[in-house]
Formats: sequence, C-alpha cells, structure tokens
Amino acid sequence: MNLSADPALGAPDEAVEFAIPTTLAGSNPAPAGRWTHRHLLDVDVLTSDDLDLVMRTTATMAEVLTREIPKVPVLRGWGVTILSYEASTRTRVSFEVAAKNLSADVVNIAAASSSVTKGESLIDTIRTVEALGARMLVLRHATSGAPYLAAQHFSGSVLNGGDGWHAHPTQALLDLYTLETRLPGGSVRGRKIVILGDVLHSRVARSNLWALTAAGADVWVCGPTTLLRGFDAWAASGVAGSRRFTVTSDLNAALRDADVVMALRIQRERMAAGLLPSLREYAARFGLTRERLALARPDALVMHPGPMNEGVEIAADVAAGDQSVITDQVANGVAVRMAVLYLLAGARDGSARDGGGRDVRPEAGREAARGAVPAAE
Ligand code: NCD
Repeated sequence: MNLSADPALGAPDEAVEFAIPTTLAGSNPAPAGRWTHRHLLDVDVLTSDDLDLVMRTTATMAEVLTREIPKVPVLRGWGVTILSYEASTRTRVSFEVAAKNLSADVVNIAAASSSVTKGESLIDTIRTVEALGARMLVLRHATSGAPYLAAQHFSGSVLNGGDGWHAHPTQALLDLYTLETRLPGGSVRGRKIVILGDVLHSRVARSNLWALTAAGADVWVCGPTTLLRGFDAWAASGVAGSRRFTVTSDLNAALRDADVVMALRIQRERMAAGLLPSLREYAARFGLTRERLALARPDALVMHPGPMNEGVEIAADVAAGDQSVITDQVANGVAVRMAVLYLLAGARDGSARDGGGRDVRPEAGREAARGAVPAAE
C-alpha cells in the first residue's frame, strides 16, 4: 500500500492493495482483505467482513503497542485534526495517541476555545482545518448527523467520535474487540450481552446494537421504560431488517445467565426532565451491584464505556472487580483507533462512499463482483 500518496488525490483506477507494511508485521497474522470506506460515520454500513478486517488490524496494532517504542511510520506527514464540540477524555485522548503512534501530525481543537465561539459555522470550521492541512478529521459533536454533514464538505476522511444520541462507531468496535479477546472461545456469537441503563440517550448502545448483532450476539437492552422509548419498535422491525434483539425493563430476566453486562451512564446532560424520579431511585432499581451481577453467569464480563458515575449505574466494587474489563476497553481504544485510521488512510478516493454509506463509485458493481484483494504479505 502506498500511504505516501494521498488517497483523495490518487488516480481513480489506481489499485490499492491492502498489505500491512513490514514495519507493522509482528507475531499476529497480517490483515487481509480490502477496505472500501472513505469515512467511518457509523458501524451500520460495515459488513461482517469489514468488522473482521478491523478486528484483525486491531490485533496487529495491539502487538505494536506491546513494543518498547509503540510507534510506526505509516501515517508520517498526514494531518489528523481532532475537533471536539463536546466534552471528551477517552475518545479524544485515545484518537490522539493512536494517530501519534502512527506518526501522524495531530492537531486538537476544542470548540469551546476556537472561533466557533465567535459564530463560525461547522462547515466554515471544516474548510478551515482542511486549508490548514487536515487529511483526516475526527469529529465529536452534540448534534446527531454532524459528521455526515462534515463528510459532504471535507475532502479527506471523517471519523465520527460520537454524534448526539446517534452513533459512536469506534466505541462499538473497541467493545467488540474487547469481547473477542476476553470471552472464552474468542467470539460473541450466541453470547447473551445485556446493555443496561440509559439506552435512550446512548450512541454507544445504538452503535453496539449494530455491531454486536452483526457479529451474532444475543443482545438484550434493559432499563426503565422511559429510557427504552422507541427501542421496542426497532427490536420488532429488526436491525438491518432481520437481526433481532430483546427489550425489557425486567432486570432479573435480562441479567439471568448473561455472558456480558454493559452498564451505561445516566446521561443527565441529554435528559429532559421527568424521565427518572431521581438518581437514587434509578440506582436502587437498576444499578449494577454485586448481588445483581450474581444472576449472570459466574464468569460474566462487566463493561462500561465511561465516564462512570459509581454508585449510580454501577457499584464501585463491581467496576473495580475481577469480572470488570473496563480498563481493557480504554486500552483497546488506542489499538482500534490506530486500526481505523490506518484502514481509512489506505482507502483510495476511487472506493469512496458517501455520507450515507452508499458506494458512489461508478464501478462499484464490478468491484463487488471481483471480491476482496488478498494481502500481499
Ligand atoms: C460515551 C460517549 O461520550 O458517548 N463515552 C465514551 O465515549 N467513552 C458514553 C457517555 O458519555 O456516557
């Protein structure tokens, strides 16, 4: 793969073979296959082959992270701008560390301290960062859909770092990777995975529903009925038309024999008044305590995307307990973001998809028929 050529400028018929450079080759098998997405706006457009490619590339990046100097030069000279219109610790820092580990030139912009406060629009800001050299843009925004708008105006790749209630694709990918590395058997297929808490306001829950059902998990969402609104209808119509999940406010039924429990933060900043009587009441009825976790399988894994409100959605001893993989989730965030930055950088302009995930290339049909390009090494 020629990463020194800008995929956005490459000749449309230039073939980009997806081979991992020797600088990345380690003990893990080199990822094979072909990545065709120009942006990462959500996981809903990723096929199970795409998910597989991300997982295998992440394993390679995780190997890089074990080295004394966890740095490879594959994005040298690439401008990566991280634009945050919303508070962020894990996502912002792990994108920054990931891009730096790939030797990219990273610029961080917090909207609260930028010209946005002087009335500059999102589109103007995007044009500005592009003019200043950004070829990849990580965008976190409180408005659902903002990264899709950005993708229409930015000539490089847009990565959604979380938009409103809508999507958080890299969180779902790092959650899948964490589960595949921690579950016995290495797969979520057939596993009962409970997403517990403020599902209504959660982009993490929405993206996980796409990714986990695509990977074959038996997903349950659970919380007070006021925080599950609309999910019944989605469950009945199915994810992608056919993949079902279960919606319930019966905590015992949800937790019974679960393989994984993912607690979600009560997102007060997104919540209208009247959805919950009080946080105390929520904690008393739905908080993940040691006693409740005992309903799940003895080796069940506990997850939380962070930031946590200990004592509300999760008890401190559960968050820090033996079954918790919360620290793994944070660490895996770096490897998964290295993987997606790397894959997007390798995608050529000719294989671009538009903001809605539709393949807009004239030759899309022919390409699909030809199938994936195997890795050269
Ligand atoms: C989540 C987010 O911001 O969407 N956190 C994260 O990115 N790790 C979840 C949350 O805010 O509760």
